[in-house]
Amino acid sequence: MAGSAPVIVILTLTIFIAQVSCAKTPADILRHSVTRHGYPVELHKVTTQDGYILTLVRIPGKPGKAPVLILHGLLSSSVDWTVQGQDKSISFIAADEGYDVWLGNVRGNTFSKEHTALSSKDREYWQFSFHEIGLYDLPAMVDYIRSNTSSDAIHYVGHSQGGTAFLVMASMRPAYNRKFASVQLLAPAAYIHHATSPAVDFATRIDELEMFAKLTRSYELGGRGPGSSMDLVYAGHKTGLVPTDLILTNIWYFVGAHDSINRTVLGEILANTPAGCSVYQLLHFGQNYLAKSFQMYDYGAIGNVQRYGTKIPPEYPLHNVTAPIMLYYSVGDNFVPAEDVEELADRLPNVVHKHRIGLRKWNHIDYLFDVSAHRLYRMIVASLTNQTAEENEQ
Ligand SMILES: *[C@@H]1O[C@H](CO)[C@@H](O)[C@H](O)[C@H]1NC(C)=O
Ligand SMILES: *[C@@H]1O[C@H](CO)[C@@H](O)[C@H](O)[C@H]1NC(C)=O
Ligand SMILES: *[C@@H]1O[C@H](CO)[C@@H](O)[C@H](O)[C@H]1NC(C)=O
Ligand SMILES: *[C@@H]1O[C@H](CO)[C@@H](O)[C@H](O)[C@H]1NC(C)=O
Repeated sequence: MAGSAPVIVILTLTIFIAQVSCAKTPADILRHSVTRHGYPVELHKVTTQDGYILTLVRIPGKPGKAPVLILHGLLSSSVDWTVQGQDKSISFIAADEGYDVWLGNVRGNTFSKEHTALSSKDREYWQFSFHEIGLYDLPAMVDYIRSNTSSDAIHYVGHSQGGTAFLVMASMRPAYNRKFASVQLLAPAAYIHHATSPAVDFATRIDELEMFAKLTRSYELGGRGPGSSMDLVYAGHKTGLVPTDLILTNIWYFVGAHDSINRTVLGEILANTPAGCSVYQLLHFGQNYLAKSFQMYDYGAIGNVQRYGTKIPPEYPLHNVTAPIMLYYSVGDNFVPAEDVEELADRLPNVVHKHRIGLRKWNHIDYLFDVSAHRLYRMIVASLTNQTAEENEQ
């Protein structure tokens, strides 16, 4: 019973904070995530073929500089690419080099919750995994950016599920391959069967997770808003009731980070991260872990025959991925392990560069939040320059 008093205090505070700060709309949060660091911002709405309305955040570049689309991973959002600030976040490092920076937000996260016909309260709204993100969200973003900037080819940077979505798109809709000048995938989550992260135990309890979602009629995981458990954690940390160490050793441990995060920035990260996802995204990753394969969603034998004509879901046809791919991966990543990315590299026909990070301490989330991530970002942005130079020579 001793534990219940802090919970009540947190609850009361959250209701209070939610009432005081409810004026901030998702669009306000996105604009502020960029302008607070002194950069200009534009928000663009993009509608997918299946009706999801997504928000792209643009930091306009120098005239003539190529667009770079940067896409976040599971439970993340565009805000995570800005939170470390100038000289530290990839968005601002690329913007300082003149690039036209576009940050994506996939369906279902805090900033892309609208739909032309459905409400995010509807069960139908949440019927998607990374498959639909790759098949519909990413092509819609790419088409919009190319048209709005009159660019023939764009650069792409994707972390984790941002890499997964790219591989889904490029294998299932191969016409998109030629729309990319370079593709940089950071720990792309395709093969993940060597994963040892504690999150795997959770994601692979497929039947229980699905039953839980159906019983509670709650298909969103890690979503935000007044009263959500993630907003409670944020308010608890902000008010000092929940100590930083508790967050680092529990929540942070779960997503695979060590203590290489800037503690000053942690409070700001918790304000918007996690940003919500569908339970089916997690289930699809769990299925691929168990199947030791990078394959389409498993609807069960009967559903699979109806949909795919086979009892077992087909693998994504990676031989179709002809865009030039650069892979970044780490020996310390316990969610997307090095050996799994090496297996992916063997199956992709056009890997132009592999960068293996040899640091045991460099884990999955460090691509976003490690205090020294800016070194990796500079390397990535420098290789965009090289690709662009090659284009200009042709
Ligand atoms: C790009 O999008 C903005 C915002 O919707 C619009 O004002 C502008 O005209 C567009 N430019 C082109 C070339 O489509
Ligand atoms: C941590 O973040 C604060 C606030 O943005 C910044 O002033 C400080 O330089 C950062 N520390 C490191 C080691 O990057
Ligand atoms: C992509 O892969 C599928 C499955 O292997 C194949 O049927 C299709 O022809 C490929 N598309 C292209 C454009 O190569
Ligand atoms: C860029 O190109 C130069 C000259 O070809 C080369 O020395 C350098 O290593 C390249 N940098 C990257 C990041 O690929």
